[in-house]
Amino acid sequence: MKFFIDTANLDQIREAQELGILDGVTTNPSLMAKEGITGRDNILKHYVDICNIVTGDVSAEVIATDFDNMVKEGEELASLHDQIIVKVPMIKDGVKAIKYFTDKGIPTNCTLVFSAGQALLAAKAGATYVSPFIGRLDDISTDGLNLIAEIRLIYDNYGFETQILAASVRHTMHIIDCAKLGADVMTGPLSSIEGLLKHPLTDIGLEKFLADYRKGN
Ligand code: E4P
Repeated sequence: MKFFIDTANLDQIREAQELGILDGVTTNPSLMAKEGITGRDNILKHYVDICNIVTGDVSAEVIATDFDNMVKEGEELASLHDQIIVKVPMIKDGVKAIKYFTDKGIPTNCTLVFSAGQALLAAKAGATYVSPFIGRLDDISTDGLNLIAEIRLIYDNYGFETQILAASVRHTMHIIDCAKLGADVMTGPLSSIEGLLKHPLTDIGLEKFLADYRKGN
């Protein structure tokens, strides 16, 4: 299972990279705005800065919503760095754009996916990644994890190679559950990844080991 961090915060990206378990980064326009990164040039530079910190895939989202401009923007993003994955929303022109990028060998991440039907279309268009937003489904009392299970079943039925990137992961249990369901990738905040580290018995056990060592030394 690949671990992506879902942020545009360079310090957190560095921290996750230093842990040695990071496989990539996802960003979106809201995450960029949260870090105060505005203006096309600054945003493009920020993508390059992120690519220079991590070794894996970095999703960079197109803003255009029509085919011609999505293609123009996506090609510009892809030319920034070979780690860039062009992130395209699940809309009609987005599906066309994903197919176009697939034919050109440009990797894509189909974002804002909330149903199995949308995930099926993304795979048919050849998306490298599909991003079902599980947290946002949970927010509206719909089981986000069930969507991961449905997509896994459908992709396995037909051998689709599109990787399931569980997005909108909000906490550590989402990661565990996505791993059980066979999601290929998860993207979440640093806190959700660091939560995997924690167990009170580890802390109690370590404290006792160190105390016992100190007794004899
Ligand atoms: C995915 O690529 C998105 O950036 C992200 O996971 C959205 O998460 P949120 O619902 O917590 O904003």
